[in-house]
Amino acid sequence: TSADEEPLDPFSLVSDELSVIANRLRSMVVAEVPKLAQAAEYFFKIGVEGKRFRPTVLLLMAKALCMPISQPTVDGVFSSLKKELDVRQQRIAEITEMIHVASLLHDDVLDDAETRRGIGSLNIVMGNKLSVLAGDFLLSRACVALAKLKNTEVVSLLATVVEHLVNGETMQMTTSFEQRRSMEYYLQKTFYKTASLIANSCKAIALLAGQTAEVALLAYNYGRNLGMAYQLIDDVLDFTGTSSSLGKGSLSDIKQNIVTAPILFAMEEYPQLKEVVDRGFGNRSDVDLALDYLFKSRGLERTRELAAEHADEAVKAIEALPHSDDEDVIKSRRALVDLTREVMTRTK
Ligand code: FPP
Ligand code: MG
Ligand code: MG
Repeated sequence: TSADEEPLDPFSLVSDELSVIANRLRSMVVAEVPKLAQAAEYFFKIGVEGKRFRPTVLLLMAKALCMPISQPTVDGVFSSLKKELDVRQQRIAEITEMIHVASLLHDDVLDDAETRRGIGSLNIVMGNKLSVLAGDFLLSRACVALAKLKNTEVVSLLATVVEHLVNGETMQMTTSFEQRRSMEYYLQKTFYKTASLIANSCKAIALLAGQTAEVALLAYNYGRNLGMAYQLIDDVLDFTGTSSSLGKGSLSDIKQNIVTAPILFAMEEYPQLKEVVDRGFGNRSDVDLALDYLFKSRGLERTRELAAEHADEAVKAIEALPHSDDEDVIKSRRALVDLTREVMTRTK
């Protein structure tokens, strides 16, 4: 079979590098102070590393953009530069995963979460205080790793991501009545909370490869749209999944009084839902009432449709990349396209 027919699992294409990264992460998060070490390594242990969605995307993006900028004259020089670039791009995957886990540790404190990745969340196991400190520690290790890349534009991109994560979390926590009903507000928050990290780290992968601003923008747009689709489906699964299928609580958004896309779409169909939303889901009967409206509306379906539009935009970004005849490049681009489908059909 040729490269464009062969079925492939996006994750298996980068599985070797994923395990290299997993091992490196475990060594990068070793702390001097025993309790901090114990807290920081918690979600990097074998078996609780999660879906590794972000590193997978980033490693595939690195391969998808593997287009020589200028023709090498000496083969040996080219291959050592190529290896150096591979390592630097792997660092981006590691840094991204560290920032992500740091944000989860803080998020579980803010959300009073009890489970994460199918085990007790760190705030439950070691308490809020150590969780916050462990998050800070991971963030600082990510900063050091970032500085070592000696690329100020990339440092700036990922520093902006951290600001965006904090923006998103704060926007979610502090809404006016008007903002709670606003799809625009929800989408902006979703970009900050989820899409910015993957968008900007995809861009960083392109910049490290010395790609043009145009290609870097395509990488960014792929990440942004994939991230938006990912979070929209996450917000659907919060209503349709079970705690055991998700490895974390279900119906957690509405119980925490967070209004997401399915409810916003349902509200367009059933304006009566607005009063319920305004009351703030403080009692169980309002949660049940909102769920009644939601399940008779097209809210979940329309959220999936919006996610599908973002997934299509992500595919278009990949299709717009400069042509390549390299089989590995073609395979990796196909895997990135396949990932958009997996995001749409995932159940956890
Ligand atoms: C999960 O959301 C949370 C995030 C994606 C971002 C959290 C960001 C912060 C706490 C800001 C601080 C950031 C850093 C880097 C220290 P969720 O609660 O909707 O998802 P869940 O169901 O997985 O908990
Ligand atoms: Mg949470
Ligand atoms: Mg949260």
